[in-house]
Amino acid sequence: MELKWWLSFLLLHGIQDVQSSNGQWTATVPTKIPALQGSCVVIPCTYTYPKPNSKKTLNRWRGFWMKGKKIVSTNLPKWKLAQEYKKRTQFLGNLQSRNCTMLLDGLRQTDVGPFYFRIEMPQYKSFSYINQAVSIDVIRNPPPPSLSVKVNDDVTASCSVSHTCPSIPPQFTWSRTGIITHQSKKLNNWTWETVSTLTFNPLPADFNVTLNCTVQYRGKKEVTSSMILM
Ligand SMILES: *[C@@H]1O[C@H](CO)[C@@H](O)[C@H](O)[C@H]1NC(C)=O
Ligand SMILES: *[C@@H]1O[C@H](CO)[C@@H](O)[C@H](O)[C@H]1NC(C)=O
Ligand SMILES: *[C@@H]1O[C@H](CO)[C@@H](O)[C@H](O)[C@H]1NC(C)=O
Ligand SMILES: *[C@@H]1O[C@H](CO)[C@@H](O)[C@H](O)[C@H]1NC(C)=O
Repeated sequence: MELKWWLSFLLLHGIQDVQSSNGQWTATVPTKIPALQGSCVVIPCTYTYPKPNSKKTLNRWRGFWMKGKKIVSTNLPKWKLAQEYKKRTQFLGNLQSRNCTMLLDGLRQTDVGPFYFRIEMPQYKSFSYINQAVSIDVIRNPPPPSLSVKVNDDVTASCSVSHTCPSIPPQFTWSRTGIITHQSKKLNNWTWETVSTLTFNPLPADFNVTLNCTVQYRGKKEVTSSMILM
């Protein structure tokens, strides 16, 4: 009795799941992504389409990222992109698993979008997800990194920034030598945080002088935060 109930529960929910993920033409993308000029940005994207009525299996997908009528990126390897986007975009997603994630590098002031995804399934239908477009808020100057210091027997300084380019994370430079480690983690679907930690055994000469952490982002923009060790 109980097993039977459980099985029908599973079946019902299974069917609902299939309908909700395959029922409509939807693309899930952020509305707006703040990203630094010169850096790269990964636009996360997943898409769904109504289940075809025929039992024919689909095995060909052509994906395009568009800005108006211009093609920004595609999964088709031989496609000739316009000069504006050539070598600056990479189609990262796997269309078969409904992933349309795209990378845009060397971000320019003009790369604000809106960008939208288009799918073409020659054995089925094509669709442009114009109503689910993404804009980029291109930032000219990065904010300074956040710097904090803990002084015990050792000095441990942490310098952290958020960024949008996980494949080429920011580079850190410290004004003092010591043991340096780095860690990155995802903050949300389009932002990562990288932390550089400097540890050293302080000498008297280390106090009352500035300790600098300089960050260089993808695209070479640089910014420094300073602290005086007391
Ligand atoms: C973004 O993250 C949320 C969970 O925080 C998830 O539900 C959503 O599907 C993600 N979007 C994309 C496009 O990956
Ligand atoms: C989509 O593809 C990107 C790039 O391979 C990957 O990082 C991301 O986790 C994928 N998203 C989902 C929802 O599977
Ligand atoms: C730290 O940075 C400041 C300005 O940002 C600079 O004047 C100073 O020389 C730097 N100090 C060291 C030790 O690099
Ligand atoms: C710290 O340095 C400044 C000058 O750079 C000096 O005026 C001050 O007396 C110093 N303070 C201590 C506690 O050494």
